[in-house]
Amino acid sequence: MTEVPNPIAIYVHWPFCESKCPYCDFNSHVAQAADLGAFQKAYLTEISYFKDILAGRTVSSIFFGGGTPSLAPPSFFSAVIEHIASLSTLAPNIEITMEANPGSVEVNKFADFSAAGINRVSIGVQSFNDEKLRFLGRKHDSAKAKYAISVAAKYFANYSFDLIYALPEQTILEWRSQLLEALTFTNGHLSLYQLTIEKGTKFFNEHRSGSFILPEDEHAAELYLATQEIMDNAGMPAYEISNHAKPGYESMHNLHYWRYGDYLGIGAGAHGRYIKGEQRFATVMHHMPQKWQTAVEQQEVGFQSKLALSNIEQKEEKLLMGIRISEGVDPRLIPQEIFEELRALKLLEIFEGRIRLTKEGRLVANAVTTHIISKYKEVEKGNGTAKFTESSIYC
Ligand SMILES: C[S@@+](CC[C@H](N)C(=O)[O-])C[C@H]1O[C@@H](n2cnc3c(N)ncnc32)[C@H](O)[C@@H]1O
Ligand code: SF4
Repeated sequence: MTEVPNPIAIYVHWPFCESKCPYCDFNSHVAQAADLGAFQKAYLTEISYFKDILAGRTVSSIFFGGGTPSLAPPSFFSAVIEHIASLSTLAPNIEITMEANPGSVEVNKFADFSAAGINRVSIGVQSFNDEKLRFLGRKHDSAKAKYAISVAAKYFANYSFDLIYALPEQTILEWRSQLLEALTFTNGHLSLYQLTIEKGTKFFNEHRSGSFILPEDEHAAELYLATQEIMDNAGMPAYEISNHAKPGYESMHNLHYWRYGDYLGIGAGAHGRYIKGEQRFATVMHHMPQKWQTAVEQQEVGFQSKLALSNIEQKEEKLLMGIRISEGVDPRLIPQEIFEELRALKLLEIFEGRIRLTKEGRLVANAVTTHIISKYKEVEKGNGTAKFTESSIYC
C-alpha cells in the first residue's frame, strides 16, 4: 500500500433500504428520495461546502455506506466521485468501496457500478445458512449470496463480505462449516461480526421478551476463538476485532478511521472528523434524509452538530479507535500503571513498539477501553496520579 502525505478519506451515506432488518440500528429508512435528482444535488452541494478542507489534499479512499447504497443508480456514484475529483486530488491507488446487498436488482448493476468508478464492494451476506438468513430477516437466500459474490469477483479487483455469527443455538460445528465455506469464496477480506442486540431494534424487544436466547458469554467466546483459529490458519488474521484480511487486502478506508486520520462525513447521519487550522472537529449530519436535504438546500451543509474536540477527547477517541486494530496504539496513550495492570491480566501486550490487545483482550475490548478512559477522567479532574510516558515503550 503506497501512503500519500496528509491523506483524507470521505464517507458518503446512502440512507435507504428495501426493508429494515430486525437487528440493525444503522441510519436506514424504508423509503426513497422523493426527487432523486434533487437528492443527488444535495450531496454535491455538501461536498462543495468542504472545498477548503479538500483543496490541496489527496483523497485516499471513498466509502459509500448505508443503508443500501447499491439501491442508488450508478450515475449517482460517478457524479459524486467526479465532483470530489474536481475539488481535490484522488490518490492513484484510491480505494472506492460500495456496500451492497445481494439482491438481484443490485447485482445486475455491478458492471455499471464498476464503470462508475467503484473498485471494491462489501456485500452483506450475513449467513450461508437459509434458516439463519430467515431469522435475520434477510430478503436473500444463500444461493443469491453466492451468486452476488461470483458477479463481484468478475467486476471488482477487491471485494469483501460480511457474516454475522453467535446467533441463537449456533453450534461451533455449524459456524466452523460456514466459515470454511466462506473461505472458498473470499479474495482476501472478510468481516465477521458477533450479533449484538441494539436498543430501538425489533430484536431488542424480541430478545427482552424471551423470543430467542443468545449464546452464553462462554459459548460466544468459544465461537470467537474458533473464528480466530480458522482465520489465522487460512492466512487471514484479524487486523481489527471483526475484520480479517490477507496481508495487503485490508480496507484502507477503515484503517484510516482506526488510525484516526481525517475524514469527511457526507449525507444523512454521516459522521466526520477533520482538522481545520489547528482544531479538530467532530461533525454529525441530520439523520432524517428529508431534514438533511432541506438543511443542505438552505445552508449548503446538513450539520446536526459540529463540535471542536478538546485534547482529552481526541486522546480518548484515538484510543477507542486504535485499540481495535492489531497494529495497536502509541504507548503514550495509556498510563503506565494501567498498562502494567492490564498486561499482568494478559489483556494488553507490546508488539513492535506499540500497545495492543491480546487475543483474550479482544474478547473484552470495551471493558479494557472503559477502564483506561476512566483513568483519563481522573487525571482530567486533577485526582489522578497517572504518568503518561514520553518515551516509546514500557518493557
Ligand atoms: C451498514 S450494515 C450493511 C450494509 C448493507 N445494507 C447490508 O445489510 O448488507 C454493515 C454490516 O454491519 C453488520 N451489522 C449490522 N448490525 C449488526 C448487529 N446488530 N450485530 C452484528 N452485526 C451487525 C452486518 O453484517 C452488516 O452487513
Ligand atoms: S442491515 Fe443493511 S439492509 Fe438491513 S436495515 Fe441495516 S443497512 Fe438496511
